[in-house]
Amino acid sequence: MNNEKDYLKSINFPSHLKNLINECENKKILIYGAGLLFETAQKYYDFSKLNIIGISDKRFEDDKSTETFCKIKTYKPSEISSINPDIILIATKEYNSILRYLKKSHNCIILPLFKKPTKKAFLRRNIYHNLYVEKQGLHGKKPSKLPLYKKIKIRLNSLLGKIDIPQIEFNITTICTLKCKHCSNFIPQIKPQEHCIISIDEFKVQIDNLLRAVNEVKNLLLIGGEPLLVKNLHEYLDYAASKKKIKRVWIVTNGTLLMNDFLIKTAQKYKNKLTIWVSNYSKNPELKSKLKHDELLKQIKDNNLDYDYVQDLTWGYTSPLTPKKLREDSKQYFEECGNNCVAVFKGKIYICPRAGVFALKGIYTPELNEVIDLNIENNPKILKKKLINFYSRESFSACNYCTILEDRTQDRILPAQQITD
Ligand SMILES: C[S@@+](CC[C@H](N)C(=O)[O-])C[C@H]1O[C@@H](n2cnc3c(N)ncnc32)[C@H](O)[C@@H]1O
Ligand code: SF4
Ligand code: SF4
Repeated sequence: MNNEKDYLKSINFPSHLKNLINECENKKILIYGAGLLFETAQKYYDFSKLNIIGISDKRFEDDKSTETFCKIKTYKPSEISSINPDIILIATKEYNSILRYLKKSHNCIILPLFKKPTKKAFLRRNIYHNLYVEKQGLHGKKPSKLPLYKKIKIRLNSLLGKIDIPQIEFNITTICTLKCKHCSNFIPQIKPQEHCIISIDEFKVQIDNLLRAVNEVKNLLLIGGEPLLVKNLHEYLDYAASKKKIKRVWIVTNGTLLMNDFLIKTAQKYKNKLTIWVSNYSKNPELKSKLKHDELLKQIKDNNLDYDYVQDLTWGYTSPLTPKKLREDSKQYFEECGNNCVAVFKGKIYICPRAGVFALKGIYTPELNEVIDLNIENNPKILKKKLINFYSRESFSACNYCTILEDRTQDRILPAQQITD
C-alpha cells in the first residue's frame, strides 16, 4: 500500500480530487476499477463529498461472491447501464484504453480518477526518453542501473541547450521483401513509383548535418522496408558506427535475407556498438519458406555479434491507412501515443515513421517545424534550434490521421501476416 500511497502523492491526487468534487457535485458516480489503488486512496483521502453509487470491475463479471468493495456495492460491467450513472470514474493507473472501451457502450461522462499531471513535450519526448534508454536500453531490453551522474548529465545537457537524441531511425529503403497486412509503418501501401532508396552519399550528408548540431545520438537504427536489401549496407553501418557521437547502431531486419561478407566484416569491426535486431516472425506459419532466421542467427552467433530476437513476438493490430482526417486537434492524441520512434524518411526528420509515410502518400502536408530537412539544413545553430522546437511541439498534424490509440485496444495478433492479392 505504501507504493500506492507514494504514487497518489506523485500525481498530486489531493488537488485532482478537489477538482473532481467541484465537477461532480450532485452527480451519481460509478467507480470503475476495484483494486489496491482505489482502496489506498479511500483509506487516506476523503471521498465523502462524492456521491458514489457503486463500483465495477471486469473481475466481478465472473465473481458473484463479492457484494461490496470498500463498503461500496459492486456491479458487473454488464450491469453499469442498468444503474445509469452520470459519471464513471476510472480508478486505475493506466486509464486510456479503459476509457476508450467504456466510451463504446456508455454515453455518460467518463473521467480518470487518478489523472496524471501533464508534462511538457520536451520532457516527455526527449529527457525522459533519454533517461529511459540510458537505463533500460532500447525497448527495455537491457536494464541496468543508471548512475546519478548520468541522470544529472542528461538534465544538465538540456539546460545547457545541448541536444541528446535518445533514438532515431533512418529509413534507408522503403522497399521490402514482405507485405505485412498490419505493418505499423504502412510500408506495403507505398506504390512502386513512390519508393525511395537513400544513397550512401545522401546518408552521409544527413548524418553529418545531424551530428554537427547534436551532442550525441544514443541509438541510431538502420531500417526500412528491409535494410538488408541494400547491397552496400555495410557502408551505411561503417559511416554511422565510426562516429563518436553515435553511441549505438541497430540494423532492424525481418530475417528474410542473410548478411553479405562485407556486412559481416563491418559488423565485426563495430561489434561493440552494433545490435542486429531480427524481428521474430517464426510464429507465423505462412512465412516458413521465406524466413532465414536460423541461418541469419548462425551468421550472427558465429561472429559473436550482439543481437535482439524476441521470443513469442506478437503484433499490435494496425487499421488500414486512411486519408480521412480523424480529429481536429492532435494534442491529446499525440500525448497519449507516446511513440518514441523519431524517424528520418527521405532525409527528413518526422515525429514517427507513420508521419513520413502519410506525407509521402500526400495524406497531409506537414506544417513548418513538424519536419526538419537533413538534406539541406547544414547550419548547426539553426538545426539545434529546430530540434529543440521539434521536441517541444505539443502536437503534430500527422496524428490527426492516425489510429494507433484505437488499435491498441484490440487483441494482439500473429506477427507479419501477409497481404494476399
Ligand atoms: C517496420 S519494421 C522495418 C524493419 C523490417 N522490415 C522488419 O520487419 O523487421 C520495424 C519494426 O516494426 C515492427 N512492427 C511492424 N508492424 C508492427 C505491428 N503492427 N505491431 C508491432 N510491431 C510491428 C516490426 O516487427 C519491426 O521490428
Ligand atoms: S513490418 Fe513487414 S512490411 Fe513492414 S517493413 Fe517490416 S517486413 Fe516489411
Ligand atoms: S502519427 Fe500516430 S504514431 Fe505517430 S506520433 Fe502521431 S499518434 Fe503517434
